[in-house]
Amino acid sequence: SIETTLRPASLDEYIGQKDLKENLKVFINAAKQRNEALDHVLLYGPPGLGKTTLAYILANEMHGNLKTTSGPSIEKSGDLAAILSTLEPGDVLFIDEIHRLAKQVEEVLYPAMEDYCLDIIVGKDSATTHNIRLSLPPFTLVGATTRAGDLSAPLRDRFGIVNQLEYYDLDELSQIVARTSRVMNTKIEERAIKEIALRSRGTPRIANRLFRRVRDFAQVYNNGIISLEIAQDALDKLKVDHLGLDNVDHKYLRGIIERFKGGPVGLEAIASSIGEEPMTLEDVYEPYLLQIGFINRTPRGRVVTPKAYEHLKIEYQPDLF
Ligand code: ADE
Repeated sequence: SIETTLRPASLDEYIGQKDLKENLKVFINAAKQRNEALDHVLLYGPPGLGKTTLAYILANEMHGNLKTTSGPSIEKSGDLAAILSTLEPGDVLFIDEIHRLAKQVEEVLYPAMEDYCLDIIVGKDSATTHNIRLSLPPFTLVGATTRAGDLSAPLRDRFGIVNQLEYYDLDELSQIVARTSRVMNTKIEERAIKEIALRSRGTPRIANRLFRRVRDFAQVYNNGIISLEIAQDALDKLKVDHLGLDNVDHKYLRGIIERFKGGPVGLEAIASSIGEEPMTLEDVYEPYLLQIGFINRTPRGRVVTPKAYEHLKIEYQPDLF
């Protein structure tokens, strides 16, 4: 798919997350020198910042295969045992949304992570059932989550490498857009690169999605050349504003201002009033609005800041009573 060709294959090609990248290089080199698997890695942070991409790179760098699954898709401990039994030495098992693993499934993971062991129960009836312990090859579990706080302590403690992914700055996003443009053989103006980067909410996945849509407009209206004017026009038509805020961000902010006097308001109340899932708002939308200082989270709920009122061109009238 396009996504796989776009995806960088090595840490050197991976843009941004500088500190994490430098540390990972050390851990990878050390593990290789000792002829061991890389220690288990937990990556957390908002969606779209490159957690899956990093898992793919780690597998490549360790010369292992990548096996991908997700917390909610592993229903029974047997499902996980089936995946674990396919692993070869040095492989990377990527579990996305690892905070959503079922408790019984999680318990199979503990000995697998700690001792490379798989404990299974065999036997037809209670008289003959017994546990047997199968050994697994040395492997690396890469877990990804948007909510590190939702991980159980025993699971979190079994990761030797725990890192938060951060939002990308303008320069890093510009490099990512420029790279995508090269990979996709597209002509793009420097100013258009910056415009897309500016409106991508610090998030490579959004930058790449906006790039594809802008490229569609350029193909139909400008012989495939992405000029600043085409980029601005396309992004306006996509209802992505100058700070990268989309329809949902606007609905969310206006909802709090118009229906709850700017807050404080609880997540559930705002979610039901605008018809969105609380979890989506919390994991996908709020982190960036917090990051740019458009909302605050208080013990009594979410509050929209004067800075957001200004951006929305709404007069700030704090509720004095
Ligand atoms: N594509 C998506 N994220 C990327 C990153 N961090 N570096 C390079 N290409 C990417």
